[in-house]
Parts: sequence; structure tokens; C-alpha cells
Amino acid sequence: MPGRENGGENAGQGEVMTGGLWDTLWVDVNLATMVDGGAPYGAVRDGAVGISAGRLAFVGPRTSLPGVPKDLARDVRFGQGRWISPGLVDCHTHLVYGGNRAHEFEQRLAGASYEEIARAGGGILSTVTATREATEAQLLASALTRLDRILGEGVTTIEIKSGYGLDLPTELKMLRVARQLAKERPVSVRTTLLGAHALPPEFAGRPDDYIDLVCRDLIPAAAGEGLADAVDAFCETIGFTPEQTARVFDAAAAHELPVKLHAEQLSDQGGAQLAARYGALSADHLEYVSPEGVEAMARSGTVAVLLPGAFYVLKETRKPPIETLRRYGVPMAVSTDCNPGSSPVTSPLLMVNMACVLFGMTVEEALAGVTRNAARALGLSRSRGTLEVDKVADLAVWNIESPADLAYAVGANPLHEVVYAGKLESWKARKLGR
Ligand code: NIG
Ligand code: FE
Repeated sequence: MPGRENGGENAGQGEVMTGGLWDTLWVDVNLATMVDGGAPYGAVRDGAVGISAGRLAFVGPRTSLPGVPKDLARDVRFGQGRWISPGLVDCHTHLVYGGNRAHEFEQRLAGASYEEIARAGGGILSTVTATREATEAQLLASALTRLDRILGEGVTTIEIKSGYGLDLPTELKMLRVARQLAKERPVSVRTTLLGAHALPPEFAGRPDDYIDLVCRDLIPAAAGEGLADAVDAFCETIGFTPEQTARVFDAAAAHELPVKLHAEQLSDQGGAQLAARYGALSADHLEYVSPEGVEAMARSGTVAVLLPGAFYVLKETRKPPIETLRRYGVPMAVSTDCNPGSSPVTSPLLMVNMACVLFGMTVEEALAGVTRNAARALGLSRSRGTLEVDKVADLAVWNIESPADLAYAVGANPLHEVVYAGKLESWKARKLGR
């Protein structure tokens, strides 16, 4: 599949890069490498991390260092017993949008359902109106506020979808803003074209004509301008049918873009099987996925992206089938789904907590969900998601006593500092400024 990467292909731990001193060496730290298959959390107590040219040059126990720290790196940093994890990856967001839907939150509290609000022209379509009206500068400013909150919890890679434009100029505008965010902040952004998110009012009653526009105009333009790294769709009774979704996926494949899918959020549409058939990077939500859907995902290596924020905000009662996903060995990711309707969430750590408490994931699974498996859901296994030699040196440094603290303390933010592509970021100054 274009854009796909395989996991677990990295060189062994502790390997030293050639060419002199490392730029930085971290010692007096514990590591949650999140490498699968060994100790829980891939933990290394009293570890060391060497960084050279923005990449990890050494990851392992301090006792395996090939010399004394001061002879190995230009800059030796002492972590005072803190924990280092991979920089977090938020692999499913709708971060760029106009307006605000707090009034719909009130309507839902008063008894209206998400579907009812959507069918009455609210929901996604009310955000579409506000996003079409917003300038690029306005979209950038509001997205930056949300992005800073997310980055303040250790995120170094984020996926951002379009899908509130539903016409060519606005979809491209959203994607340009998403790309611009990566220039404004120390974060890697992966963009996803979600043209098939909802039916825009000007196409009311003509969904197939709108899908024509998505396939003939939106996907070719986004691909041509290098604005999309993947293509997504909303396969649902209030979204698009599996047949329409398949047409979107065919167009994505014609432009060598990998696909993802909002699947079985509110009902079972067979979206997981469809996504699997197209070798999708991920199928997301999955509260209503069937065992057949899970089996298909296992066969295709499609990641299950679980979104406890939307489950919580919409007061869903049906949980994604964690035990079945586990049994079939489907990799599970966890994300904020940051959006103005179903999940106005900017806390990946709260999502880790909710994945455990609401969905029954273990802390290790939930943390793999915002690191290793989230990177895989973006096709970035080769470069991100675990602490392994040769990967990008994106690190989160935490004031915690054990990795479980990251899931346990509700509303706490134990982030101490972030290293992005090898460079120490003073996120605290930014936090104080917001
Ligand atoms: O992931 N399910 C569709 N899309 C979003 C919600 C978008 C919205 O309500 O604005 C989701 O939940
Ligand atoms: Fe979503």
C-alpha cells in the first residue's frame, strides 16, 4: 500500500552511530521505550538515550554505554530519575475548524441525540458554515490554541483532518492551515483529506453527485498540491454508504494515498471489512464493529483507533470490543478525536485514562495507543512511536514514578519537557503564556 510502513524493522538497541560525539546524552532517567515484546512498557530502569543529528543514536541501560557520559556527547543531561517516553502521537483529530458548538452540548444534555441534531442541519454542517466563513488566519489562530494544549501534554506528532469545508476551496484551506501549524510549532503534522465527512447542503438529496466531486476534484487537487497524506471518510447512516466510501477509496488509491475510515461509530455498516479490503492504515471509533470486522482488520494489519472522548461526550453505552480486538491481535491506538461536536477534547492523557476506565484497556495498551500504535495508524512506524535507535528523537520527559502514573492521575499533567527532533523544547514557557 502506498505510504504504508512496516513495524519492528529497526536496528538493535544500544547501537552507536559512527561519526564522533553525540549531540546529547540523557542519563539518570528511566525509559518507557514502548517497544513490544519485552518488559512491560519496554521499560529500562537507569537507562540512557543518545541523540545525534535529530535521531536516536543509543537507547538502553546506562551500564551498556560504550564509555563515560562526558566522553560520549557534547551535552550530557541528567534526568533526576524522571521517565522518558516516545513523544506522544495524536493520530485522529479534526483540529482545524471554525465556530463552536457548545449550544449543541446543551441540546444533548436536554435530550437531543447527536443524530437528531445532525439531521436537523446542525452538527457537522453547522461547523461547515463557520469554517467556510473563516479566514485562513482565523482558522490558524483557533487551531493553535487547541494545538498548544495538546502539545502541552507531550505530543510531538499529530494527524489533522479536513472535512468541515466540503467544497474544494474550503477543504484545501483547512489542509493548508494544518500544514502551516507544523511551521508554527515543534510538531510533525500528518494531514488527512476527509471530503466525505457529511453531505453539504448544496448537494442535499444527491450524495452520489457529491461523491463525484470528492473523487474527481477534491482528491486530485489535494494530492496534486501535496496537501494530503491520507484520505478518510465517514461511513455511517448520517454519513456515506459502503458503496460511496469504496468509490472514495478507489480515487485515493488512484492517487497513491493510503486510506483510513470513521467506521461503526453509531451502527455496523461493515466499514471495518471495507477498510481492511483497501489495506487501510486504520479504522476508527468501532463501537459497533462485528467480530467479522475485527477479523478482517487483523488480516490486513489495520489499526483500531479508539476514541473514548467521543464515546464519553455522546454518552455512548456500547463499547468497542476490546477483548475481541485483543484476541485477534489488532493493534489498538487511542486518540483525542479533537473536534467541535462529538469530542471537544485537547487532553491525550485524559484519553489514556478513559481508554482504561471506560473501555477496559490496560495502561500499557493505552500508552501503546498514544505511541507505537498511533504511529502505525499514520504509517509512521519506521520513524516514530517507540524509543529505538535510528528513529526520530521525539521524546517526552515526565515527572512520574512509573508509567502507570500517566493514566492514573486525572487532570494532572506531569510533563516536564519535550525533545522534538533532538531539540529540547521549552513548552513550559508556552504553557504559562496561554
Ligand atoms: O470523529 N464522526 C464523525 N466525525 C467526527 C465528529 C465531527 C463533528 O461532530 O463535528 C468524529 O466523531
Ligand atoms: Fe473523527
